[in-house]
Amino acid sequence: MTTPVAIVSALHEELAAVLALMPDEQQQTIGGRAFWRGHLHGHDVVAVLSGIGKVAAATTATALIERFGVQRIVFTGVAGGLGDGVNVGDVVVAQRFLQHDMDASPIFPRHEVPGYGRSTFEADAVITAQLVRASEQVLRALPSQLGTDVLNAFGLQAPRCHQGLLISGDRFVSTTAESLALREALPEALAVEMESAAFAQVCHDYGVPLAVVRTISDRADDAAHVDFPRFLREVASRYSSAIIDAFLTQR
Ligand code: ADE
Repeated sequence: MTTPVAIVSALHEELAAVLALMPDEQQQTIGGRAFWRGHLHGHDVVAVLSGIGKVAAATTATALIERFGVQRIVFTGVAGGLGDGVNVGDVVVAQRFLQHDMDASPIFPRHEVPGYGRSTFEADAVITAQLVRASEQVLRALPSQLGTDVLNAFGLQAPRCHQGLLISGDRFVSTTAESLALREALPEALAVEMESAAFAQVCHDYGVPLAVVRTISDRADDAAHVDFPRFLREVASRYSSAIIDAFLTQR
């Protein structure tokens, strides 16, 4: 067997859409987590749900690398927008990752990961560029297929693809006060979620390339919980499966 690419989803709906495209997937349970090995557009693939939060993300990444020998990891999910102009329905492709709740000060500078001498980890430039191309292709075509009901319900207009810093922590950010504090501490952060920076640290440890794309589901403020399940179902999971499709079929 060849070395597989990992397709990691944050949401059940996204994983279901990926599995629906795999003709031959076989399930294997490791550490209580279901991994699906099979083929997708001719690629040897392992598909899995990341679990929520940094610990679940780190054990998932480790199992993918140690048990399946994956050579590339692509992660899709949702995130709360922080940067100016990072709006609901936009997409963020990460260039760098940081754990916003890492704080071993005063022993180490705030956000620095002890033992690494750094606070950020990089996305792989090659697969990230491929993911940007796939995302831009999807953003040109998909929004018009979602229907006016969905577009109006979420105020989606001319969605954009952003690239930059993605931050992760073990908290769903759902107050304007917390979002403002994050923006003040980390002005370059485009969006916040709960897993990618943990994946990035594990991928750094093993030298495995990682790329992450996140659909913006909320602005990480007092309105962050509004219609979240509907957004996941009707927008984010459709973006993700279309982006993975475009990513795996591009030449
Ligand atoms: N994922 C999607 N929205 C989020 C938020 N506001 N905080 C953390 N993770 C998220």
